[in-house]
Amino acid sequence: MLAEARPFIPYAPKPLAKPAGRLKTLWLLARNPLESWTQAHFEQPMLAGPSSLFGYTVVVNDPQAVRRVLVDNVANYERDPLQLRILRTGSTGGEGLFTATGESWRRTRRTLSPLFTPKRVAAFAPMMQRLAQARVDRWLRRRPGAILEIDREMTGVTYDILSATLFSDAIAGDSAGFERAMMQFLDAIGTIDPLDVFNAPSWLPRVSAIRARESLAFFNKTTERMVKERQAQIADGGEAPDDLLTALLRASDPETGVGLSTEDVIANLLTFIVAGHETTSRALAWTLYLLSRSPHWRTKAEAEADAASENPGDWLDEMPVIRAVFEESMRLYPPAATLTRQAQEADRLGDVEVPKGAFMIISPYLLHRHRLLWERPDTFLPERFLPEAREKIDRFAYLPFGGGQRVCIGMRFAMMEAIIVLATILRQARLSLVEGQEPRPLQRITLRPDKRLAMHIHPR
Ligand code: HEM
Repeated sequence: MLAEARPFIPYAPKPLAKPAGRLKTLWLLARNPLESWTQAHFEQPMLAGPSSLFGYTVVVNDPQAVRRVLVDNVANYERDPLQLRILRTGSTGGEGLFTATGESWRRTRRTLSPLFTPKRVAAFAPMMQRLAQARVDRWLRRRPGAILEIDREMTGVTYDILSATLFSDAIAGDSAGFERAMMQFLDAIGTIDPLDVFNAPSWLPRVSAIRARESLAFFNKTTERMVKERQAQIADGGEAPDDLLTALLRASDPETGVGLSTEDVIANLLTFIVAGHETTSRALAWTLYLLSRSPHWRTKAEAEADAASENPGDWLDEMPVIRAVFEESMRLYPPAATLTRQAQEADRLGDVEVPKGAFMIISPYLLHRHRLLWERPDTFLPERFLPEAREKIDRFAYLPFGGGQRVCIGMRFAMMEAIIVLATILRQARLSLVEGQEPRPLQRITLRPDKRLAMHIHPR
């Protein structure tokens, strides 16, 4: 495939020449954690030492070492207390898969894995395509050249898809309020609270938790009602919709036969929403932005979308170009920009000693732009992910979905959804960025654009 003459290099924050002091780091973390990385973070395989904020910290950029943390010695690296404190904000007692640890995680993962098999995920494809098409139809009713806020549109379409696949739109009349509450909640927990960084006692109220409380209360109440209604429907022997909620209520641990408690069903529904919604919508918005800046790849992607087969369940395997474009977008803008763990015992990663209790940072953002791992790391080059080239990428150098036993359970769901939404758009519409609106990446709970992504829509 012919390479692009002048590939696009999007804006990226300039790394610091040397580490910032304690106060400035705290300020940068609150403003945009991406701005706190130094040149060395993009150039060295490992950085370890006491940090001014997080105690002994190891930043792991060497794929071999990443593999040891996520796979070979995974038992030694649990989710860290800071992450758990942030993500458990407002928990109602149940434990979702994301925040579960130890045996409780193993049990939940065994129970939920059958919900995400390729076959089950493919069954959602026609609905994903229908909902994407409905949105594109709405766009095409606007005058040619009209401006859309594409980030909002992607939030909308991924929300439509998630609510249809999770609970068959059972939120009924509360739908708009539910979506708003979800957005407020994600916004509130998306900023790192200094009290969490300093490990302040949990009874000290966090600003983020106060902001999240109201939306979360509404959110929990609505979810609880839906779960109770569905339980009653199943108990009555009625025909229950074939969605993830019914699957969660019927799921049981293949080893013990034990199902989930009502609290755990609620917690996992909320987990799927929090983990699955914003991640996918951001990745889609960044992809549409990059395509609008790369006519070369847009043309190729359009041609592939035009040749799509009848069955959207096959698109994931049929569309290597759109898939490569999407994967390259997640390389430059990984929605989950930082993964963290805590060392339970001392360990050794290559030459680096890891003391017990060390705070481990594996940052897809750093890894994906690391000078030792990628050629032209800041340039948009989807050819890296075309089938033959992709095989040469180290599994632990590219981690948009994490890796090892805690790899994203929704990976296939998200990939299928993304390819379907992109192909549906590309077949009929062309989007171009409004001049002067170049977005910059901002790390909140996901990696998002710092401003609305305003784009002109033209029918093809
Ligand atoms: C582009 C979209 C997505 C991205 C980039 C993404 C990314 C990730 C990453 C990086 C992790 C691992 C975190 C870690 O190791 O610390 C993860 C875990 C997880 N994701 Fe996703 N995700 C996406 C979509 C989804 C979807 C659609 C769902 C559910 C419907 C989902 C549910 C989860 C859950 C439940 C976990 C926790 C798994 C466990 O700890 O066993 N994600 N995701």
